[in-house]
Amino acid sequence: MKVTLSVIKADVGGLVGHHVVPEELEEIAWDVLEEYRGELLIDFDVSHVGDDLILIMTHEEGVDSPDIHGIAWEAFQEAAALAREMGLYGAGQDLLKDAFSGNVRGLGPGVAEMEIEERPSEPVVIFAADKTEAGAWNLPLFKIFADPFNTAGLIIDPKLHSGFRFEVWDLIEHRRVFMSTPEEMYDLLALIGSPGRFAIKRVFPKPGHVIPEDEPVAVASTERLYEEAGRYVGKDDPVMIVRAQHGLPAVGEVLEPFAFPHLVAGWMRGSHWGPLMPVGVKDAKPTRFDGPPRVIALGYQLKGGHLIGPEDMFDDPAFDRARAMANEIADYMRRHGPFEPHRVSFHDLEYTTMPEVLKKLEGRFEPLQ
Ligand code: 13P
Ligand code: 13P
Ligand code: MG
Ligand code: MG
Repeated sequence: MKVTLSVIKADVGGLVGHHVVPEELEEIAWDVLEEYRGELLIDFDVSHVGDDLILIMTHEEGVDSPDIHGIAWEAFQEAAALAREMGLYGAGQDLLKDAFSGNVRGLGPGVAEMEIEERPSEPVVIFAADKTEAGAWNLPLFKIFADPFNTAGLIIDPKLHSGFRFEVWDLIEHRRVFMSTPEEMYDLLALIGSPGRFAIKRVFPKPGHVIPEDEPVAVASTERLYEEAGRYVGKDDPVMIVRAQHGLPAVGEVLEPFAFPHLVAGWMRGSHWGPLMPVGVKDAKPTRFDGPPRVIALGYQLKGGHLIGPEDMFDDPAFDRARAMANEIADYMRRHGPFEPHRVSFHDLEYTTMPEVLKKLEGRFEPLQ
């Protein structure tokens, strides 16, 4: 059976600044999706990471379906209306346009979708991060699908041994390139090591795999809010879907990269680097300096398009050390205050409110003799 998994997220308002999505908003989104259960939607779930509301939907409409995107848009609009009533902060933050014309892309929400032939057992992990950007998935995706020090299966499972194919998007020049690992591992890293510019959009199996080569095994949202809004309104706060097991990395291999809280851009005003802290949903509430950036992992088994779960995968003492390390790195980074490399590069400040400050100083510069 072909089934499409659509994960669509938006910040429609935060309870106490950019802190968290209040329950009421999740409930209203749930009620909207419930109206379509058994009609357009096979199943769904609603969650959040920080101030980002996440809709997880299964259906048979394929990717980029105007009907499915329409449902998401309706849920976000209703939640945003309640957020406005409650005076929540940044109510409707990521809903940049009023008119919906068949697709939420370009309107503010982040989208990760894949149409797959469901396997007899189909474990999937849905990741969502707050206070960061799409490129934050580059390091973990590389480790999951290309690093044998992370994924033992690349060495010892013959079904993984031939590697994977990565679709990389150039977020500035709007172009893409496909690259295969292990053959092109170094070239791939040359690009994705700059996560502000290049982001992994999808990962595919190689020909001969049990999964057809044109069917994604991972997909990430790559929307850039700054570009869509033309000004700083918030950070992109990406989502991603990763399939696991049986010819793919095991669930534990999919989670393993997050045991290292790597540095990502997007903390405080979208202008600072900080460690990505893996947390259970109950702790997906950034506080300190509006962070540090958080990531959650929701595990499901898909069956007949139904979502069995979620399992809150980072709600586990095995990730305590990663959280402690993230706190230590946060202390260290914070002590740089307004200095790079805690603050993002001068070039990347272009995507924040900094240009307004710099404009004011422009007339004060004198040429050097
Ligand atoms: P599979 O059952 O998918 O082969 O999983 C292998 C495993 O041992 C996971 O750690
Ligand atoms: P969000 O992108 O999560 O809304 O956060 C914006 C911000 O400026 C936090 O400091
Ligand atoms: Mg916000
Ligand atoms: Mg957010």
